[in-house]
Amino acid sequence: MAEERGNVAEQSAVFPPPKEFQKTAYIQSLDEYRERYERSIRDPEGYWGEVAEEFHWFKKWNQVRKWEEPWVEWFVGAETNLCYNCVDRHLNTERRHKAAIVFEGEPGDVRTLTYQQLHDEVCRVANVLKGLGLQKGDRVAVYMPMIPELAIVLLACARLGIIHSVIFGGFSAEAVRERVNDATCKAVITADGGWRRAKIVPLKETVDKALADGACPSVEKVLVFKRCGNDIPWTEGRDVWWHEAIAEASTDCPVEPLDAQHPAFILYTSGSTGKPKGVQHAVGGYMVYTAHTAKYIFDLKDTDLYWCTADIGWITGHSYIVYGPLANGATVFMYEGAPDTPNWGRFWEMIERHRITILYTAPTAIRAFIRQGNQWVTQHDLSSLRLLGTVGEPINPDAWLWYYRVVGKERCPIVDTWWQTETGGILISPLPGATPTKPGSATLPFFGVEPDVVDQDGKPVPTGEQGFLVIRQPWPGMMRTLWGDPDRYRQSYWEVIPHVYFTGDGAMRDRDGYFWILGRIDDVVNISGHRIGTAEVEHALVGHPAVAEAAVIGVPDELTGQALVCFVTLKSGYQKSDEIKGQLVEQVASVIGKFARPKEIRFTDALPKTRSGKIMRRLLRKVALRDPSLGNIDTLEDISVLAKLQADEE
Ligand code: WTA
Repeated sequence: MAEERGNVAEQSAVFPPPKEFQKTAYIQSLDEYRERYERSIRDPEGYWGEVAEEFHWFKKWNQVRKWEEPWVEWFVGAETNLCYNCVDRHLNTERRHKAAIVFEGEPGDVRTLTYQQLHDEVCRVANVLKGLGLQKGDRVAVYMPMIPELAIVLLACARLGIIHSVIFGGFSAEAVRERVNDATCKAVITADGGWRRAKIVPLKETVDKALADGACPSVEKVLVFKRCGNDIPWTEGRDVWWHEAIAEASTDCPVEPLDAQHPAFILYTSGSTGKPKGVQHAVGGYMVYTAHTAKYIFDLKDTDLYWCTADIGWITGHSYIVYGPLANGATVFMYEGAPDTPNWGRFWEMIERHRITILYTAPTAIRAFIRQGNQWVTQHDLSSLRLLGTVGEPINPDAWLWYYRVVGKERCPIVDTWWQTETGGILISPLPGATPTKPGSATLPFFGVEPDVVDQDGKPVPTGEQGFLVIRQPWPGMMRTLWGDPDRYRQSYWEVIPHVYFTGDGAMRDRDGYFWILGRIDDVVNISGHRIGTAEVEHALVGHPAVAEAAVIGVPDELTGQALVCFVTLKSGYQKSDEIKGQLVEQVASVIGKFARPKEIRFTDALPKTRSGKIMRRLLRKVALRDPSLGNIDTLEDISVLAKLQADEE
């Protein structure tokens, strides 16, 4: 992947910010950006202290940043509350009766919640949570469809200092169980179902499977929102209907002032080893960073209707559907379902119907639209759009240009935003009114962010060469730690290359200082913008009785960016068959989730290993890609294994 993209920088065209957009943008020139950027790097405490003044603090900080590698504290000694800043703060302003959330369900139901209404709903749910016995510091798993109640739950938790752990609705029962247990969640909040492709996703049923037979002993209550009205299993004493609990709940619920270091939430993500990592963010820094990035990168104004198509189950939804935009008093559009229901015109039809002004989506979605043909897009009036964004994976220049021309009609700047679950918010991105863009490049760092491209020893690599993307100093959105595993935090992020934050991505910087992200260089695969650890997939595969060993790699895929190819050796007594292949695909779907389904299962008699027994994934990748230059194989324990793999290829 890296090799293919390496020389793109040389050929690419430059697109200055469209003039009309620039006129009203917060930051209108590269010079203005540079000046502010330099100040933010020279004096991070001064810069972030000033930014933080825009928010409400119950108690002011006595120090902006305390940095003892790898531990950072922002706004030391301060007290604030995310929910207060996202909701209550707007009530005494002209935003009070402005829409906070405009929602469209997949069946077509539309709802609008003003800031006042959002406040009232959040308070009622917060009171329900209290009634369930939950309090500050407790963990709650949230497994819900993309409906306003999901945002309401997050804000209700934030209001009370309850730590939410949102689990994407596509995860399987087993994945839910693992996450619930890792954070010893006291409750699970779910719905009977959610609509996706005109079918009901049976969320409650999956929660019940996850909790079956006392598998999650910490869970005392399950709160269930009725979305689809489907039949669901019910456990008396444990399960509580949302609508029943809320009927009596008051719209008045005091906000809990929280220490700035208090955990805002936990969100699990994949790493290079088997167990998902519980990324833990802190209330104060996360709030300031997501709000500040949302404001400048999306140029958020009160007149915008902003739509981020991500699911709240991922970090993009946390930071740029819920916390970042609402902290700015923006109006957020939310959609429940699939982009192709009832047909591929759905997104464009909604943009036209609601007059959406900002669209933030993933390259995979863009590629899927390209495949369906321009007519789905061009038959709709998209003149309300003024800004486009992408996130989650590298965008290929062709997809970028299509997005720019066919969707944006060359009027809308594109912000290609690079960041991670761990970074809390966007770290590298154009500022839409200031930064000339190059298709495929995330361009320049945001304020306060100091990225570099280095070799294994941390030495910067020359311009135009590939290396590891690292960040040299902490920023307020940086994770605090991994839930319950501070050692893993230190080792995975601060000790791979000494004294810098290790991103796990490869990158290249061009002559203009623009960053080109080349994709993961660790054992993490990015499928349609979803991070999946190859070790997790291998773990799932060896759980099948027929499998002796498995090695999983990511290969480029035209539609999904990357796809999983699994090399599998069978135990004796099992025959290679399409039936087993099918079972293995389902095995991965049931252990992780359907979105992690491998593209290909390949049987092999043995896996190529180094003398010390490590599987040589590099070779497997070459085999999968039919690469004739199989490189140096001196370390192969058994060269015949490779020969065999290649022979199988013929
Ligand atoms: C990849 C998603 C290229 C990258 C916000 C990163 C990107 C991983 C981009 C994080 C982008 C995200 N260009 N690659 N604009 N944005 N990535 O934690 O490999 O789900 O490390 O966070 O996605 O994925 P995560």
